[in-house]
Amino acid sequence: MKGILLHGGHGTRLRPLTHTGPKQLLPIANKPMSEYCIESMKESGVTDIAIIIGGLGSNKVIEYYGDGKKFGVNITYIKQDQPKGISHAIRLCKDFIKDEKFLVFLGDNIIQKSISDYVKEFKNSNYDATILLCEVDNPSRFGIADIQNGKLVKIIEKPKNPPTNLAVTGIYLLTPKIFDIIDNLKPSWRNELEITDALDILLQKSNSISYHTITSYWKDTGTPEDIINANGSILENMTPYNFGKCEKGSKIEGNVMIGKNTLIKKGANIVGPAIIGNDTVIGEDAYIGPNSSIGNNSKLSKCNIENSIVMSDCIISCKLKIRKSIISSNANITESDEEEKIFLLGEGTKIKI
Ligand code: G1P
Repeated sequence: MKGILLHGGHGTRLRPLTHTGPKQLLPIANKPMSEYCIESMKESGVTDIAIIIGGLGSNKVIEYYGDGKKFGVNITYIKQDQPKGISHAIRLCKDFIKDEKFLVFLGDNIIQKSISDYVKEFKNSNYDATILLCEVDNPSRFGIADIQNGKLVKIIEKPKNPPTNLAVTGIYLLTPKIFDIIDNLKPSWRNELEITDALDILLQKSNSISYHTITSYWKDTGTPEDIINANGSILENMTPYNFGKCEKGSKIEGNVMIGKNTLIKKGANIVGPAIIGNDTVIGEDAYIGPNSSIGNNSKLSKCNIENSIVMSDCIISCKLKIRKSIISSNANITESDEEEKIFLLGEGTKIKI
């Protein structure tokens, strides 16, 4: 079975973080979020994968994943010139898929459970599609499945009056039957060829779509809050390790992952779940609290951080309580001697003081 990983789009709700690259490369527990999708596909036996690229910084996707060998998969890149929707992206893969069944994964979907049983079941079934559903609090933001007496009767994209709170997650098991349906699809109100519209036509035609409801963690990481939430959830389930050095007088509690050549200096306090990358220094009264990810090659001191992501090559050296924050690579937050604060902020920066 082949796989398609969607890695395009503009990530507008995640600006300014997405001014320099695609949102699917934003790190969760120090790893691009789309890498979790690749791992999940590989674990379910899907290793021949087309990555759909498009939008700002798609070259960074190619740079990171290359031919896939490093990740144990075989990657083909397919370019989507404009963000015309999930169905449009899938249609671009017709020649790649040929006549096989296939798995589609949206690169911004984080799921903790293995999908390999669903993949196996679909492979051996006669279903035209299988979808995975998950209960959500805000159903008007998602594709929603209408289920009546256990039977899937309709699939609707972002309904104003959702019939259920069962979101259609961005993990789809499909057959090449979907291509003909997409060829006759009309763009939606947001000018996209929706996957939900294609699935609903398939459902009304053949009545042969099965579903599973996921009760474990799943998240579509559309907003900064979602990313911070996913970061916490991934960290919670990681096994602690320490490849760095912790000086006498430093304090480490709970699930903490420390990378190579990283130094935790005397006076630093780390409370897990937290991850610190490679070549990083945590020193001088720094407190790194639960649900924090600190990237490679950074230097942090005096600050007090919880529930946040600090990417690589950052310097934070000041008495600041940092919460629910995402700080991009190469950021520099230091103390000024003056009463005055000095800012050099990129377009779309958000600061709350
Ligand atoms: C897309 C799909 C939607 C699905 C969601 C899952 O929404 O259109 O049906 O529920 O992904 O992540 P979008 O992220 O484009 O708003």
